[in-house]
Amino acid sequence: MPFDLQRLRAETPGVAHRVHLNNAGAGLMPRPVLDRMVAYLHREADIGGYEAAYEASAELDAVYGSVARLVGASPSEIALTENATVAWQMAFYALGFKAGDRILTARAEYAANYVAFLQVAKRTGVAIDVIPDDADGVLDPDALERMIDSRVRLIAITWMPTNSGLVNPAQEVGRIARAHGIPYLLDACQAVGQTPIDVERLGCDMLSATGRKFLRGPRGTGFLYVRKPLLVTLEPPMIDHFGAVWVAPDRYELRPDARRFETWENNYAARLGLGAAVDYALAVGLHEAEVRCRELAATLRALLRDVPGIELHDAGRELSAIVSFSVRRHAAAAVNLQLLRAGINVSHSKPSSALLDHLARDLPTVLRASPHYFNTPEELDELAAALRSLS
Ligand SMILES: Cc1ncc(COP(=O)(O)O)c(C=O)c1O
Repeated sequence: MPFDLQRLRAETPGVAHRVHLNNAGAGLMPRPVLDRMVAYLHREADIGGYEAAYEASAELDAVYGSVARLVGASPSEIALTENATVAWQMAFYALGFKAGDRILTARAEYAANYVAFLQVAKRTGVAIDVIPDDADGVLDPDALERMIDSRVRLIAITWMPTNSGLVNPAQEVGRIARAHGIPYLLDACQAVGQTPIDVERLGCDMLSATGRKFLRGPRGTGFLYVRKPLLVTLEPPMIDHFGAVWVAPDRYELRPDARRFETWENNYAARLGLGAAVDYALAVGLHEAEVRCRELAATLRALLRDVPGIELHDAGRELSAIVSFSVRRHAAAAVNLQLLRAGINVSHSKPSSALLDHLARDLPTVLRASPHYFNTPEELDELAAALRSLS
């Protein structure tokens, strides 16, 4: 579809009620996502849950194809999960670590991932080594190259961190990981829906993402991609009779595809909502989405620079649509609440959400405004005016 802002806004019920600049928290669902879920829930109520799933089985199966198209994979390499964290955990904990192994990660790594590194370090004695940044605060691929040795068991980084606008060089990291045959797990949670994704080009072996953020899907959805040759070697950390068929009293067989990481029971309405969100994103165009998101974010940064008392907390050269800032003499949570009362949605991130980054840059709890393609410059003006009235 051609980029038609008026139509995209008409298909987004939430814009009538809110200035929604919290797409890094949860994007506003477009009408086709909402309608598909509501219609499916009605079928569950009208004819029964199992029967509704049977009726929609072809469409439910097609969700794998949609997600695969979104990231340039094969449907058999996709697992659907209840969030990005579970997707990431399934891949990470399946790898199997031993004392002496090394995990290489980035300074801006997301908290959920880092605490899992710490747990595995506590259990097994792996070393967690943080790849240094370059002078602009971006993961330095040359430094990564110098860190590689035979003990590196995993490279796991976040592509676009939860705040700071940073875009890590995910593709460069993939090139290095591949050259050395090291498994590479990429957290694409904030990237999906905001930028085109091609797992071949990225060179990642595993990629995790959420449905609810820039992809504009429902809450409680996510997915995992695992490259086929690696997939067949991985034993999920937990299994049930869906991921592993009980074939003899003393034996099970793992499914050959990525669904070995799933369990039997699922929220099918949410899955269909995720599928609708992916199809919608593909129809809008990921390149178009990226250009518009970044344009709006750049406009917002320029506006905020002119508001007295506001400090931007960007890092890196190429900036995502996640704009982090603080307001002098005002706590982030209080500003967040005040904006909420004025009908403006943003969010705030505590240091513990990306602790290494916050410590390295001595950051307070930061406010996070994250425009999407459906936002308008007038909405950005509204946020800037509301912040100006605070100072
Ligand atoms: C970079 C990053 N990774 C992972 C997650 C976790 O995603 P989910 O809440 O879907 O598990 C988030 C959520 O904010 C995130 O920002």
